[in-house]
Amino acid sequence: MKSDHIKTLVQDPAVGSGVTVAGWLRTRRDSSGFSFLEVNDGSCLANIQVIADKNLANYESEIKKLTTGCSIVVRGELKESPAKGQRVEILADSIEVVGWADPEHYPLQKKRHSFEFLREIAHLRPRTNALGGVARVRSRLSYAIHEFFQRQGFHQIHTPVITTSDCEGAGEMFQVVTEQELNEGSPQSDGINSFFGRRAGLTVSGQLQAEVFAQALGSVYTFGPTFRAENSHTSRHLAEFWMLEPEMAFCNLDCNMDLAEEMLKYLLKDVVEHCQEDMALFDKFIEKGLIDKLRHVIDNDFVRVSYSDAVEELLKSGRRFEFPVSWGVDLQSEHERYLTEEAYRLPLIVTDYPASIKPFYMRVNDDPTTVAAMDILVAGIGEIVGGSQREERHDVLLGRMQEAGIDEEEYQWYLDLRRYGTTPHSGFGLGFERLVQFVTGMHNIRETIPFPRTPGFAPC
Ligand code: 4AD
Ligand code: MG
Repeated sequence: MKSDHIKTLVQDPAVGSGVTVAGWLRTRRDSSGFSFLEVNDGSCLANIQVIADKNLANYESEIKKLTTGCSIVVRGELKESPAKGQRVEILADSIEVVGWADPEHYPLQKKRHSFEFLREIAHLRPRTNALGGVARVRSRLSYAIHEFFQRQGFHQIHTPVITTSDCEGAGEMFQVVTEQELNEGSPQSDGINSFFGRRAGLTVSGQLQAEVFAQALGSVYTFGPTFRAENSHTSRHLAEFWMLEPEMAFCNLDCNMDLAEEMLKYLLKDVVEHCQEDMALFDKFIEKGLIDKLRHVIDNDFVRVSYSDAVEELLKSGRRFEFPVSWGVDLQSEHERYLTEEAYRLPLIVTDYPASIKPFYMRVNDDPTTVAAMDILVAGIGEIVGGSQREERHDVLLGRMQEAGIDEEEYQWYLDLRRYGTTPHSGFGLGFERLVQFVTGMHNIRETIPFPRTPGFAPC
């Protein structure tokens, strides 16, 4: 059915014209001789007010029985609204009830519900102001990512979801087996998938395959779902999340950091500009000062500091951290947050981590105990981006793989890229939900993805 979006009616109203709105009832208020209906169609945060006169044919039989959550189609005339807080309203000529929502059972009431409760009704939570807003902001950010990279001549690569390489080497892959294997008893203990004839799993990163295309198309990006069987119950981890991974040939670590900083600023600016109504809601109810926080990031240079200097900073802070700090340990969220929120008070790019705590593909520095890694840390979250310059020297890479106990036979294709026309190249991964979290101020990452998957939780 062709209907008018409330967003258009509210932002650019053609007063006096006939309109059709199809949406869900938020509230009904009866007055003498008519009812006010607040309708939302999801096109924007705002509802539109509908005046339903008692002379409508189904006024007593249906309209006066409408409750929150019912779906209706309203046809009528758009009028200037005499009431405060809205420019226009609809004087209904007809209201068709499409779907009832039994108020005895419909779980969304007018009051505010906790996010924990809403997670239990994942199929209905997008109908709330906050979760609807997150979905719209997420959609806009996804669009802006494509716009940013396409404008700069990057090509999108659809890297595989099923893969036979564990990019991060952290042992967090979900293995893929066939139904037949399961029906015939347990899958083989070595995990060999009978369909592929080798171990296969869900991707933990599209980077290695993106590297293949960067070594042919120059600048590419992949943006898709990523899976990690991490047993993390934190507010920043999901078992299924989306990652954006650009990869560039002929690009060193500085070029990589410049791109990541430019991209983050572009995305924040875009969303502040294009999602004003939803952003104002988050600023008011989710994180006070949110928009100022984003502007602070947009308007200032990120601080770039080496891992060694960051460790010094942590040691001299005099802070008692739950995880003690010393050179060589991985930075924990509490360290990351101290650095970006208190020590530097700006987004921070930490570079040159110890080789021993980073994956095999990162380029070994001249020292040679560190690698050309870079993580971007932001307030409230910690690591939002992880990237590096890749090891382009065949023999050094081979050495790192052997140290890490990686079967070089399985990675011949990856080594070949260093054998035939190798280039210095770099890339990074942006955790898309962490970006949405930072932008919306949502406390828990589970509110930033339509259907969160975490240990013990995957309802629909
Ligand atoms: O730092 P990570 O593990 O880097 C990579 O996977 C590289 N292969 C990326 C690259 O260089 N192309 O992950 C990148 C980002 C992290 O900074 C974080 O924002 C996000 O992905 N991330 C998660 N987000 C939600 N839940 C999880 N379990 C995440 N693990 C990583
Ligand atoms: Mg990382």
